Amino acid sequence: MALTDSIPNNVDLGSDKKLLRALEKWQPDFLSWWMEMGPEGFQADEIYLRTAVAVDPKGWANYEYVKMPDYRWGIFLTPREGERAIGFGDHRGEKSWNEVPGELRSILRRMIVTQADTEPASVEQQRLLGKTAPSMYDLRNLFQVNVEEGRHLWAMVHLLHQYFGKDGREEADALLTRRSGNPDTPRILQTFNEKTEDWLSFFMFTMFTDRDGKYQLASLSESGFDPLARATQFMLTEESFHLFTGETGVERVVQRSGELTMLDPNGDARAQGGIDLPTVQKWINFWFSSAVELFGGEISSNAADYFATGLKGRFREQEKYTDHLVLEGSYTVPVLSDEGRLSSKEVPLRNALNEVLRDEYVADCERACRKWNHTLKKTGAAFELYIPNRRFNRSMGTYAGRTFNPQGEPVTSAEFEAHRAAWLPTPEDRAYVASLMQPVHERGKVANWIAPPKQGVDGKPVDWEYVRFQG
Ligand SMILES: [Fe+2]
Ligand SMILES: [Fe+2]
Repeated sequence: MALTDSIPNNVDLGSDKKLLRALEKWQPDFLSWWMEMGPEGFQADEIYLRTAVAVDPKGWANYEYVKMPDYRWGIFLTPREGERAIGFGDHRGEKSWNEVPGELRSILRRMIVTQADTEPASVEQQRLLGKTAPSMYDLRNLFQVNVEEGRHLWAMVHLLHQYFGKDGREEADALLTRRSGNPDTPRILQTFNEKTEDWLSFFMFTMFTDRDGKYQLASLSESGFDPLARATQFMLTEESFHLFTGETGVERVVQRSGELTMLDPNGDARAQGGIDLPTVQKWINFWFSSAVELFGGEISSNAADYFATGLKGRFREQEKYTDHLVLEGSYTVPVLSDEGRLSSKEVPLRNALNEVLRDEYVADCERACRKWNHTLKKTGAAFELYIPNRRFNRSMGTYAGRTFNPQGEPVTSAEFEAHRAAWLPTPEDRAYVASLMQPVHERGKVANWIAPPKQGVDGKPVDWEYVRFQG
């Protein structure tokens, strides 16, 4: 099969010989990376997967049984009608770029590579999870997320190959040689080097870390570099399923934990083989505090440059804002004195855009948490989950090297250490959660520590045969 047939696309691959050659060279390396670092086992099984096959909002995807190595990783750009103008920053109103402006070349390449690197990283982080899936439904969803992160890598590699020449090809190769968690060749961002070795972590990752991705992709989808805007816009359609997996996954754990707490005479969900709610809270604290770092420094000249040059806008820049220049206005950011006293100061708004994006993210996480608490309340368990303050457990930016409790109040490092085991997962907690991770691969069955899903995939029942195991 010719490459143009195996790669569904709307970028007219067949007519661009140079691009085609570059991708033909990269594809076998991608596949060997997938076999080495993608899901371990299950590569011969038939999975009921969604594949992006077009850009029509109503009919963009196809569901069918496919073996993962045969998945058709495609390249799609959201179509544009007519010309588009740059929507913000110093070039606002000028024609958007279809080629890389020379002076922005290296900064743009770095932005694309940083985004691209997270895609294979998450597949690597999740590669062993299939072995302990709590249900066939969850197993299928894990693989759906994995193949789509693979497609997101293709989307970014397409941009590197088409617009960045030799440098772009070298970056595309390097994306397949770094390895999550490897001290010698780590992935670029720290959260993507964390271990995701249990399913509670997987749900937290798709809830909190993938959600950072949503906000980054949405900001890039405003970009004045049109191919990047269009590629990321299409990626967002797939991304919403990843966030759904995380948010509902945590919700199902919370529900079951509440039920088991009520079932146990001493209110101890662990005694019933479940995950107790304080442990769920510790996982939230860990993953939220790790993901929130991804937005960058509170005061950032890089963020100001990205906005000024028209490369990265705000979340829903066109819908939500009327002033797209942001030359006036300020934002109150926190500052810490040498003694650790918290105060605030006004900075020009352009320098606070990381914090503006982080505000959107935090509000979204708090919305989800309210939903979890609503579900929890219905079980009768007297426990309330929270999203920790963004100052808690940070190692970058203003709060790095300082200690705060989950409510965001300054505490001494001795106080922090004294509470560490109550706030963050301990090795014992991790061992306990790991002990619950026994595979449930029979159709329609669900592990004891998680509630069944409310609905199946693609209108199918919950007990549908989402995976056809071969042999
Ligand atoms: Fe992705
Ligand atoms: Fe994702």
